[in-house]
Amino acid sequence: MKYLVTGGAGFIGSHVCDALVARGDSVVVLDNLSTGVSHNLDGLVGNPSFDFISGSILDAALVDSLVEQVDQVLHFAAAVGVFLIVDKPLESLLTNLRGTENILEAASKYGKPMLLASTSEIYGKNGDGPLNEESDRVLGSPLKSRWSYSEAKAIDESMAIFYHHEKGLPVRLVRFFNTVGPRQVGHYGMVVPRFVEAALHGKPLAVYGTGNQSRCFCHVYDAVAAVLALIDSEKAVGQVFNVGNNVEISVNELAKKVVHQLGSKSAIEMIPYEDAYGAGFEDMQRRVPDISKIKSVIGWAPKLGLDSIITDIAGFLNSQH
Ligand SMILES: NC(=O)c1ccc[n+]([C@@H]2O[C@H](COP(=O)([O-])OP(=O)(O)OC[C@H]3O[C@@H](n4cnc5c(N)ncnc54)[C@H](O)[C@@H]3O)[C@@H](O)[C@H]2O)c1
Repeated sequence: MKYLVTGGAGFIGSHVCDALVARGDSVVVLDNLSTGVSHNLDGLVGNPSFDFISGSILDAALVDSLVEQVDQVLHFAAAVGVFLIVDKPLESLLTNLRGTENILEAASKYGKPMLLASTSEIYGKNGDGPLNEESDRVLGSPLKSRWSYSEAKAIDESMAIFYHHEKGLPVRLVRFFNTVGPRQVGHYGMVVPRFVEAALHGKPLAVYGTGNQSRCFCHVYDAVAAVLALIDSEKAVGQVFNVGNNVEISVNELAKKVVHQLGSKSAIEMIPYEDAYGAGFEDMQRRVPDISKIKSVIGWAPKLGLDSIITDIAGFLNSQH
């Protein structure tokens, strides 16, 4: 099979590309390298089953011509990360809406199956747990840039499902919960690489807010296994799936664990949310996925825990220096 992977130079997308080529498929990546880095694809450069196109999902003519050439489209490209969304709200919103519309329109025109990378952010500040695919969305004002990522991804999901219902496009929707691992960069707000990097350099680990908020972390290798199983499954067509790990940890405990596991001398510092993200920032206290649906439909469950995640991110960061 030949796949178009948008956002394939990014964190999750590049690991998906590695896995596809490793199992004998061909990959064409479309990426504008805004948050992704060509470095992530070093292992594939020169491979006849791999091609990289530098460009944007906002270029409808380019998207059209690339979609025509492949068997299936995996759509990972997006403006991602809390800092980026708050910093460039309009550009982020337009990328996440228009870009996805371009992909869906081309996929529909050529009848190419499409997988959409969505997010647990669509649940907003619904602090109930565990959240299943039918759980309510609880959002703040649309005038707060904080929620525009959630808004855009939710509209993306609706668009994809309506293309499926009204035009027969085979779509698969994945809601990634916090996904972490090698190649993820800390500078756009992801807590685990940020902590691991600080711990490795003996710098303070900055915990935002009280640190009592809890999160779950899924190793990117587990997330990739879920993606591969979903694109191979006919039962997954027209459906949305949570993909994440359901083992919970508070951000305070995470900071302590990172320091301990890496044998670091770093201090742990508490920083008010408004100092980190600006005034009026809202965050959710809990974020736990219910992953029973994907388990029952395709038999997937995460296998790797936080110890492997911390070890693998530290190994990756050390290899960069
Ligand atoms: N990492 C997570 O925890 C997580 C959680 C939920 C959802 N997701 C979703 O998974 C997908 C991948 O996220 P990631 O964590 O790998 O982030 P990432 O920033 O590493 O990857 C996004 C990629 O999209 C590319 N991109 C951005 N705008 C583009 C454009 N206009 N045209 C072409 N390429 C463009 C970037 O350069 C980057 O390579 C995203 O859709 C994101 O919303 C990720």
